[in-house]
Parts: sequence; C-alpha cells; structure tokens
Amino acid sequence: MDKVIDFINVNREKYLEELKAFLAIPSISALPEHAGDVKRCAEWCADEMRRIGLQNVRLIATPGNPVVYGDWLGAPGAPTILFYGHYDVQPVDPLNLWQSPPFEATIRDGEIYARGSADDKGQVFMHFKAVEAHMKQTGKLPVNIKFILEGEEEVGSVNLDNFVKAHKNELSADVVVISDSPMFARGVPSICYGLRGLVYFQIDLRGSNTDLHSGSFGGAVANPAMVLSQMLASMKDRGGRIKIPGFYDDVVPLTDAERNAWAQLPFNERAYRKDFGIPKVFGESGYSTLERTWARPTFEVNGLLSGFTGEGAKTVLPAVAMAKVSMRLVANQDPDKIANLFEAHLKDVAPKTVELKITRMHGGKPWMTSYDNPFVQAAGRAIEKGFGQKPVYTREGGSIPVVSTFQEELGLPSVLFGVGLPDENAHAPNEKLDVANFHGGIIASAIFYDEIARTR
Ligand code: BES
Ligand code: ZN
Repeated sequence: MDKVIDFINVNREKYLEELKAFLAIPSISALPEHAGDVKRCAEWCADEMRRIGLQNVRLIATPGNPVVYGDWLGAPGAPTILFYGHYDVQPVDPLNLWQSPPFEATIRDGEIYARGSADDKGQVFMHFKAVEAHMKQTGKLPVNIKFILEGEEEVGSVNLDNFVKAHKNELSADVVVISDSPMFARGVPSICYGLRGLVYFQIDLRGSNTDLHSGSFGGAVANPAMVLSQMLASMKDRGGRIKIPGFYDDVVPLTDAERNAWAQLPFNERAYRKDFGIPKVFGESGYSTLERTWARPTFEVNGLLSGFTGEGAKTVLPAVAMAKVSMRLVANQDPDKIANLFEAHLKDVAPKTVELKITRMHGGKPWMTSYDNPFVQAAGRAIEKGFGQKPVYTREGGSIPVVSTFQEELGLPSVLFGVGLPDENAHAPNEKLDVANFHGGIIASAIFYDEIARTR
C-alpha cells in the first residue's frame, strides 16, 4: 500500500491540472443547449477511464444522457465494488456572483473553485486517481470494480431506475461506493447512512384570461397571486408541521440512540447562522437543526412567479400565478404515495375562483441503512488512515435517487463516503472543493479498496 500512497503524494499537483480539464466541460444536464457538452463530458470520462486502466469502457445509451461504464474484474474471489457517480452538473446562474468563471477552475486559499468541483466531478475524479495509483504501481487492483457514471443525476435520474433494472447481471457486485456528499465539517470526516427522498411539483393558477386593471376589477375577482400564497401558506402550521393529511403516516421516527449520537456532533448553531446569514433558524418544533435536516420531511417553495415584478409600480391583477414546490422525504415515505396525498390536498384547498393545473416532476426515494456492516467498517478504517481521524456517522438532507434502487433492485448496501464540506456552495455560485480533502480522499479511496478486499 505504501508505494500506492507515495505515488498519490508525488502526483498531487498533476491531479489538480487534470481535474481542471474535467471541470472545464459545461455538462449542465438541465439546459438543452448544453446537450453537446454533456455528451462530450461522457466521452471525456470514458477516455480517462481507459487511461487509468479500466476495461470494457463504453457509453451505454439511455433515453436521456448516456451512462459511462468501465470495469476491472481481474481479482477473482475478491469482492466487487459498484462505484456510482455523476458527470452532469447544475446550471451556473446567477453568473455575476461567481468570483472566477464557473468552468475555468481556479485555486484560491486551498480550495478549487468551479461548478462540479464538489458535486460531483471532483469526487468522481478522486476514485479515478485511486484506481490509477493502484494500477500504475502494482498492475492490478485488490478488488474488482465496476464504474457507472450518470449524466442525469441533477435532473432527477429519470432513466437510471430502468437502466439498473435492465442491467441487473452486469451490475452485480457486493457493495456500492459513492462519493457525492459533504463531510460533517472541516476536519470531521464522515460516513453518511441516510438520504432524504424527493417529490417535485409545478403549480399553475389562472384567475382570468388576461391581466386586469386592479382598479376596475380588484375586489370582485380572485387574485391568483394571493390565492396561491394562501394555498402555500396553508401547507404548514406555525410550528413548522406539514398539514397535508397522512403526510407523516410512514415516517420512521428518530431513535433515542440517533438523537444522542447527533447531539454529540460538533454542530455550532451560531456559526451555522452566521456562515449563511440566517437571522434565526426555523423548523418543526421539538427537533434540533440536524434532526430537522436529516430525519424529518419538508415542504418547501422552490420558486414563485406572478404579476408585476419590475421597477416602479403597476396596478394590475395578474391573470396567472405559478409556484415550484417540493417535499423532501425520509424513510419510509413513498414518493408516489406522498405525491398523491399532496395532489388531493391541493385540489381540496384550491378555491373555485381559480383554475388549478398540477404538474408532477421528478422525484426519488429516501434511503437509510444501518452502519454495522463490514463495508462501512472498512470505509471507517480507510478514512482513519487517510485523514488521521475516525469518521462520524451522519445522515444528510439531500437526495441521490439511485441509492434506494441499488438496495431494492440489486440488494446492495451503499457506502457514502464524501469529502465535500457544508459550505461547498453546491448548486450555488462559487462551488468549491477543499484541495486537502480532495487529496486525502484519493488516499482514503485507495486504502478503502484494500480494506474492502480484506472483508473476505
Ligand atoms: N450531491 C447531491 C446529493 C446530496 C446533497 C447528498 C447534499 C448529500 C447532501 C446531488 O448531486 C443532488 O444535488 N441531488 C439532487 C437530487 C434531485 C434532483 C432528485 C438533490 O438532492 O436535490
Ligand atoms: Zn447536486
């Protein structure tokens, strides 16, 4: 193992230059004008996977963006890792808030700034380099490994469930490894054992067939902006509890053991408020901030649009109002069931004065596992060796829809070992990845493969 780690240390600077090339490709899956870049990025990954010594590398077509596949199966009898990551990234707007261009990776103060640096290209690249170091120094890997890289994670992984179902045999493995999540805090490496799920909707209201003069019509016609606000406001009570009937029926309650463990984590609410400019935290009463984000479901408004929003004043009754809303779900809430409950409730609270149109968008199941399996223990040992510190066990508020699919369709446990940070600015301007975490992550990943080999 020593010569593998030496190799990683010697190549530290070179890795950053290589990563910059990956980060330069604007593979934004949400924007049709970037379809060519997404494809180019898939090809870049395939070329890189060939360079590092993976075999059977190819793009596998889906109805959407291709999955990049590559494997190395030269360790008969050893366990097989299924590595999952994504090569697509989020849009970059608002562009003017970036301190350096999002697709020209720039290193400042020990961080590499670029869209996708943390979510997820930088973390995928860590594993490329861990594989390469083993291959270059020993000509082999201690385990078998299959890589699948998705190009639609940021738009809900709509084609991936079918992909997994259609390739069950090719994807057979012992454990899934994913690096697409943050560490608990700087200097506090972690293993994540739970993710929230998601359902997403667009709501459109129409109150008239044209905008109306608010003097001539105001008071006699319902205002869709007002109606929508009232409908949205009615979804939660003042204590932050969601009022959709049946919403909490399947929620797995927090255990005392979890609550106690989380209360020991070095979470500083004052620093949290200060870092993100939050005047006062808000959430479901009876739960701490960590509990609210990791173990409780939410109802959130992601966007609102109606009426006159330009400079100055315009006296108008808008004809329409629109909202994007979503709910984060926790184990064992089922996205389809929750979506049905929400739709029924929305129809229930919508007054007859407006026309209501509901559009169901993407979603994903929540995931939770126990962390007393040998692969999680192996990850813990690797992290301790790579970062000089034992990991803490966390859940996260974000979603990676395919994780529950791996469990349900392939029967596989997942180990989520991420090296991002809570202030990485994922999905926001100035996304960044800590260079030391990136480097430590390559070493920890290389050791992790070795530790996984020892589970047998
Ligand atoms: N890397 C995130 C998932 C994540 C975020 C894990 C925070 C742990 C903590 C991933 O790329 C992502 O953003 N997922 C989407 C999924 C959605 C589009 C279905 C999300 O969570 O919004
Ligand atoms: Zn993301």
